[in-house]
This record gives sequence, structure tokens and C-alpha cells, in this order.
Amino acid sequence: MKRVFSGVQPTGNIHLGNYLGALKQFVELQDENECIYCIVDLHSITVPQDPKELRKNILDVAALYLSIGIDPKKSTVFVQSDVSGHSELSWILTCNSYTGELSRMTQFKDKSKGRESAPTGLFTYPILMAADILLYDTDIVPVGNDQKQHIEICRDIAIRVNNKYKDTFVIPDGRFLKTGARIMALDDPSSKMSKSAENIHSRISLLDEDNKIKKSIMRATTDSDGEIRFDPENKPGVSNLLSIYSALSGKSIENITADFAGCGYGDFKKELVEVTKEALLPIKKNFNDIRETEELKNILRAGAEKANTIAEKTIKRVKNNFGL
Ligand code: ADP
Ligand code: NA
Repeated sequence: MKRVFSGVQPTGNIHLGNYLGALKQFVELQDENECIYCIVDLHSITVPQDPKELRKNILDVAALYLSIGIDPKKSTVFVQSDVSGHSELSWILTCNSYTGELSRMTQFKDKSKGRESAPTGLFTYPILMAADILLYDTDIVPVGNDQKQHIEICRDIAIRVNNKYKDTFVIPDGRFLKTGARIMALDDPSSKMSKSAENIHSRISLLDEDNKIKKSIMRATTDSDGEIRFDPENKPGVSNLLSIYSALSGKSIENITADFAGCGYGDFKKELVEVTKEALLPIKKNFNDIRETEELKNILRAGAEKANTIAEKTIKRVKNNFGL
């Protein structure tokens, strides 16, 4: 059995990009692998958070994990800050990484753009992420395309440590989907769908009401040539909607474009509204059923205990190999 690890930040507005790029994979992988899914709250404090809001968002993501079909009997679900090994290993890896390689991370460049001085946590974020992954001897990391560079630096650090000390870490691989790995913003298909964009119609959040889903999709940016065709370069808006349609319905893009041959964008969007509403309905229902329960907290407690058992072993091995 392979070990799978991934995480999502508790920063609100979990959207279709998060779902189709990452979360859907979490569910698919849990039958054949040993899966560990984390709510990465330590990552979220790289930017300022309101404590009350953060506490709410942590439980929201935990409830969403279960709502989309992550089964706590099969997978371990826990909150990152409940397992101290993440922070501990992060420091040890910090001492085995270089400012040069961190400076090349495009996410850091984007987030620190225009500032003379950026929060140190934003800069060292990829090291904490490497610690998250290496702490569990992870084989596979299911993530969206925007995480490719971070997976690469994680591998580099792990290989570096293995060469310098005794074999210490398992070298992980990223897992990226063909359709869904990069869902674009609905109002601007040149940037990725994100939690933080000001325009709420740029994204569909998993808990959006039907009316909001309809509004956001019907006003999504397309183009003026009127043909429903998959061509991300020249028709990024339409292609993005086709990717969403395909990933949510399970139909291939070829079949969808054949079905809608000769139709206008309006008809296609109306169908996409229906497909999206139908996909999100059970998630919203499950969320309402689980969010306020004591069971949710029990699952997180048991998850942290299981995760901690694995983490402690890794920390022990690392300390031993490093002479600590
Ligand atoms: P965000 O990037 O939205 O702040 P996270 O950093 O918590 O969210 O990412 C959670 C997962 O969702 C990661 O695996 C990330 O690669 C994936 N993801 C985020 N945005 C998108 C997107 N627009 N399309 C596909 N996957 C995405
Ligand atoms: Na991200």
C-alpha cells in the first residue's frame, strides 16, 4: 500500500478549483492507499488571520472533507497544529535549504510582489510543506498544478538530506489530474480560481446557493466567436467551462462538445449550471448534517493521535540520523 498525504488551508471559500484539482483525488485514492488528509492551519497563518474566523474555517474544512466523501474509517483526517512534528521537522529542513531556491518560488514572488519586506513565513512556506509531506513517509501527494514547484523543492530537500545523512526520507511524487488540475477564474480565465479574489463571481464555492451558482456561471467570461470548442490558448473562458463540465459530469470533453455542437453559449451554460448544482447538492447536505456535531471533533482528535504516532517515529529517526 502506498502512503498518500495532502492538505488544504482553512482560509474559507473552498471552491471548485480546490475540489476538482485536489479534493476529488483525495476521495478516489482512499480505497487503494493509506491516506492522510490534513487541515493545514499553520500554513494559513503566513498571512494575518482573525482567530475566531480561523477556528470556524478549520472545522469548515474538516466538515467539507467528510462531506465530499472522505471516510474517516479509511483515511486519517486531522489538524496540522495538533501534531507538533510538523513545526519541529520544518526547522530541521530549514537548516537544509537555501534562500536561493526559495527565492525562485513563483508563489512567493506573486504574494510578495511590490513589497520591500515580506513575512518570513511566506518565504519559508515551501519548507513547512516539505515537512508535512516527509513527516509521513509519503509516496504520493495529490495536488493542483500550482503546487508543482513546491513538490519539486520538497523532493530536492529530501534527496539532499538523504545524501548528506543516512537514508532518512521517502522521496514523494506529486499527483496531478489531466482535467481539473488548474481551474481558472470565471471572470478572468487568465488567472486561477482563488479563495481570495474580491469578485465572488470569479469562483464557485462548494457551499454556494443554487442562485449564486447560476449567476456566476451565466456571467462567466467567454468570447465572441460563438463556438463551443476546447482550445485553452485561444478560447480560455469556454475551455475552462468545458473542463469544469467534464470533471463534474465524468463525460469526456469530446462528448460534451459533440453534444453541444451548433448550440449557443447560453444553452451550454444553462446545462453547466444544472450539472454544478447537482454535484454540489449532496456536499451541502452532508455539510449541514456533520458541521455542528461532536462526532466531527472526535474524528479530528482520533486523526491527530494516529498522525502523531507516525510523526513521532519519523522525528525520532531524523534526530538519530542528525545526531540530535
Ligand atoms: P488556495 O490555493 O485556493 O488558497 P490551498 O492552498 O489550500 O488553496 O490549496 C488546496 C489545494 O487546491 C491544492 O492542492 C491546490 O493545488 C489546489 N488548487 C487551488 N486552486 C486551484 C485551482 N484554481 N485549480 C486547481 N487546483 C487548485
Ligand atoms: Na495554493
